[in-house]
Amino acid sequence: MENKPKLVISTGAGMSAESGINTFRDNGGLWENYDVMEVASAEGFARNPGLVHKFYNDRRKELVKAHPNLGHMGLVELEKYFDVYVITQNVDDLHERAGSKNVLHLHGELMKVRTINPPYKVYRLEEGNLETSPESTDSEGRHLRPHIVFFQEAVPEIENAIKLTEQADIFVVIGTSLAVYPAASLLHYVRPGVPIYYIDPHPAAVPSGVRVIKKGASEGVAQLIDELTRGKK
Ligand code: OAD
Repeated sequence: MENKPKLVISTGAGMSAESGINTFRDNGGLWENYDVMEVASAEGFARNPGLVHKFYNDRRKELVKAHPNLGHMGLVELEKYFDVYVITQNVDDLHERAGSKNVLHLHGELMKVRTINPPYKVYRLEEGNLETSPESTDSEGRHLRPHIVFFQEAVPEIENAIKLTEQADIFVVIGTSLAVYPAASLLHYVRPGVPIYYIDPHPAAVPSGVRVIKKGASEGVAQLIDELTRGKK
């Protein structure tokens, strides 16, 4: 079988904005209404775990009502032409629900929880039972926490994300302010000469060789598909 080129796509909160999920740093974004160090940091969790559980309970309630948008679905369509790998900073499951086959979550997954102490065990929450609290335990009585990479914590998946990025034949960035490291550093691992696209209505500063598509995810991905598959359809 013909080997398809490897298309690696790094997504951020803007990918899910058109699904009704708030971004973090836009006007009205989550970090305007919440103190990130209170609700999403290791210190915040140690200080007030109840508040952190509540913050993620609320995010889960929002997520179960949301649906993948045309942008998520466009990335699935690209699997016809490319070997597609999605590296997402998003903790939602909209890439998976759209049908993307290979999704790596850099910052964890909202629909999962894990034991607080090693050996870490990860559990998927069941619909209808999506709330957790500092009292939540697994069947062996071990306390659980959101399966989220808090600020001040290591990002265990970054090594795998770097490996994928180094193998990319085409690299695409969608809907991220490129403000949070190490996710933002992935761009530096793209091999020289590999085409890079960046879809974002308010793009951050990027090197001059990057092809910037200044559009929202749905429209921008439609344009990307057009540009990448010209002559292939
Ligand atoms: P940000 O909120 O920092 O950036 C969102 C980006 O999405 C901005 O560049 C917007 O211009 C863009 N955007 C807005 N609407 C869009 C649309 N319709 N289509 C495409 N793009 C759109 O979110 P991230 O860069 O993802 O981490 O933030 C990175 C990390 O910071 C998050 O994973 C989260 C946060 O703190 C944790 O909580 C661990």
